[in-house]
Amino acid sequence: MIPNDRLSQVRSRFPALSRLHDGRPYLYLDGPGGTQVPRRTIEAMTAYLERSNANHEGAFPTSEESDTLLAEAHVAAATFLGARDADEVVFGQNMTTLTFAVSRAIGRTLRAGDEIVVTRLDHDANVAPWLALEEERGAVVHWVEIRPDDCTLDMDSLERALGPRTRVVAVGLASNAVGTVSPVARIVEMAHDVGAWTYVDAVHAAPHLAIDAAALGTDFLVCSPYKFFGPHLGLLYGRRELLDSLAAYKVRPASGEPPGKWETGTLPGESIAGLLGTFDYLEWLGREFGGAEIGATDRRAALAAAMLAIRGTERELALQALKALGEVPGLTLRGITDPARIEDRVPTFAFTLAGRTPREVAVELGRRGIAVWDGDYYAYELIRALGLGESGGMVRVGLVHYNEPAEIERLAEALREIARPSGTPAPTRQ
Ligand SMILES: Cc1ncc(COP(=O)(O)O)c(C=O)c1O
Repeated sequence: MIPNDRLSQVRSRFPALSRLHDGRPYLYLDGPGGTQVPRRTIEAMTAYLERSNANHEGAFPTSEESDTLLAEAHVAAATFLGARDADEVVFGQNMTTLTFAVSRAIGRTLRAGDEIVVTRLDHDANVAPWLALEEERGAVVHWVEIRPDDCTLDMDSLERALGPRTRVVAVGLASNAVGTVSPVARIVEMAHDVGAWTYVDAVHAAPHLAIDAAALGTDFLVCSPYKFFGPHLGLLYGRRELLDSLAAYKVRPASGEPPGKWETGTLPGESIAGLLGTFDYLEWLGREFGGAEIGATDRRAALAAAMLAIRGTERELALQALKALGEVPGLTLRGITDPARIEDRVPTFAFTLAGRTPREVAVELGRRGIAVWDGDYYAYELIRALGLGESGGMVRVGLVHYNEPAEIERLAEALREIARPSGTPAPTRQ
């Protein structure tokens, strides 16, 4: 865990955190939509654009440097994701684009009546690409329902959704709306028991939890570096045999081998350079706050230590936030609210405030320099399953390891003001 008295060492590495709004620090609670980046990332992007900017596979130094960088980035991303082989990692524009590409490729192997399982807890980027296969390939889609009281997956409905014709189970590791962490290792086992492939959306998990694709046993896993302190980019892990055997949509001269066969067009070299900077930052965090001696070359251990330090820090922030939000009059928090179950969630909180629409709350907070999201944030099915589709969804507050306890207090104070009908004086302390 990052001790509170050393948090400034972390925060000072993020230039965006020094932004002011009306003389007060700008408060970033919009991490689930995209986190801020450390200076190391920005410098790596700038250095690439200043010195090595070129397309790939040319016979000249800047192109050779770009090739080397891409190879290094595959290795580093494989280390981060827990992939066994650098060729199991594919770079793309973002998670959505990668998911459309893989689901189209899988679609080519389906027969009418083959079945796909999706959940009502997932971001629509792990739902809509699969739903499209109903129309395109005659696939039958089954839904895993949620338990509305705590916004967890209903595992009985998953059991019922699986069958001998299930080909794909698409599931999220952590909900981008309410923060629920789903039992994905178990879900992968259940899917494999019926012979289905698994497609895991780790976008919302990646800033909070260590990812180990090989240990999860999943066939595919996707995440987006811009949600874990990196640049705008998508990352896909795919089991080598599947990346080999599935037919990708690609132009004729492109490599027929993974990962190149899945990396369509020209990749964003500066973002890939920036991602290496993000991994450097995370390794620094792991070595500094991970609590154990880590060998200079053991990058996986340093990253695992970073995620452990992040998890410990976020656990305290999450407990504080649960208490602070619970005390705001008229605030209804959805998802897991029991502090005893803190391990089953990440610090992402969605709520409504009586008498105010989520947009009104977000606007009021925005005026105070506090960035939060409102609406459904593409957790389209969940918001509708909770009956909030017509009323503007919920306000979403996302904490990450660079947030600090004082910021939660500032949020709670602002919410109490917003909750109070205008003209009502603040309660005075006796
Ligand atoms: C859980 C989750 N999955 C998928 C996505 C889509 O990611 P991208 O913007 O990289 O396509 C998001 C983005 O908000 C997300 O939070």
